[in-house]
Amino acid sequence: MPAMDWTDFCVALQGERLPAALVDLDALDRNVDRLKDRLTGGKTLRIASKSVRHVGLLRRILARGGPSFQGLMCYCVDEAVALAGEGFDDLLVAYPTVQAIALDGLAGLAASGRTVSVVVDCAAHVEALGAAGRRAGVSLAAVLELDVSYRPLGGRAHLGVRRSPLRSATDCIALARLVARVPGAHVAGLMAYEAHIAGLPDRNPFSPRMNPVRRALKRRAMPAVARLRGEVVAALRADGVRLDRVNGGGTGSVHHTTREEVVTEVTAGSGFLCPHLFDYYADLGLEPAAFFALEVCRASDPGYVTCAGGGYVASGEPGWDRVPIPYAPPGLRYVPMEGAGEVQTPLRLRAGGQPLAVGDPVIFRHAKAGELAERFARYVLLRGGAVEGVEPTYRGRGWCFL
Ligand SMILES: Cc1ncc(COP(=O)(O)O)c(C=O)c1O
Repeated sequence: MPAMDWTDFCVALQGERLPAALVDLDALDRNVDRLKDRLTGGKTLRIASKSVRHVGLLRRILARGGPSFQGLMCYCVDEAVALAGEGFDDLLVAYPTVQAIALDGLAGLAASGRTVSVVVDCAAHVEALGAAGRRAGVSLAAVLELDVSYRPLGGRAHLGVRRSPLRSATDCIALARLVARVPGAHVAGLMAYEAHIAGLPDRNPFSPRMNPVRRALKRRAMPAVARLRGEVVAALRADGVRLDRVNGGGTGSVHHTTREEVVTEVTAGSGFLCPHLFDYYADLGLEPAAFFALEVCRASDPGYVTCAGGGYVASGEPGWDRVPIPYAPPGLRYVPMEGAGEVQTPLRLRAGGQPLAVGDPVIFRHAKAGELAERFARYVLLRGGAVEGVEPTYRGRGWCFL
């Protein structure tokens, strides 16, 4: 089934209560296939669960991806524990913690034979991990996170996220040696996420003048990432560190990262549902698969309608690109002074566009992939334009981790 239009959504939504969140499973499948096709050289793909937050969809993506999709990248230990309870395995917790109560959960999974690992970047992380491993009588797998931000001018400029202080082979070797001295922990891999490339839309209609600058920065930054990853992996191996996996990439950079020889697996999550922020990359070629529908509940003036709900603004640097976009019917615009409202969202209709009456649905797309699941308790899953099922999101399961 090709991309759904407003009439298709109206048919599919008959009998559904609004607001409703929708996933077009046909589009999701095509996105899975596209991302799978980008894998080269035997690399596998790890799903960033934060960008899905829906057990049923995680299962579907893994099944469709087949053997080249391996494991989940979790956003906290409690999520990993919950997902293990649903039967998932090979869980990498990509954001560190020193909370004993959380790490004990991870150690419990390891003790029960699950494959789990957690990112570390400093001595405190390693000490806490080792202590949890010793309490459970296991050795816990640590994945070192290398910061690959672009730092020209001798490090005085910083383009990238502020996460790990490990910036060189020397830094990584020092931490790996510390792990080797701590009973209850061992090094299992390296993660180096090029957020400044993967998370930088370079065809952004909300700030078009910056797009050429962003593209130029990416062109300069990507070879530097590849060089640093290569150097650090070689140095760690030369120092006797066993790296079972080298993880890199995100939806916005998979096509680059997958070409690097030292990388064994790439991560992607957002690309499966393709929220609107992922329209603004020059070279991704994904299609929208997640939507939400609001009810037109009133019309204050000719040329305007007001929808119930809608204020689902995404995290990150604040701006209009974080606000959901009205998607169908085409041509609807926000009223700038109100934007997407807490309980009501007014929209301006396009002259000559689809007329809307009270009771009609308006279809939107969220800016980000996972956060929609924090707003809706269930996703209505569409196949061939009809409802195939309705399944709970993390929120619907009562899961609330961060
Ligand atoms: C460590 C890490 N890897 C990969 C990703 C990419 O995720 P996505 O494909 O959803 O953009 C992220 C996203 O923030 C991340 O933090």
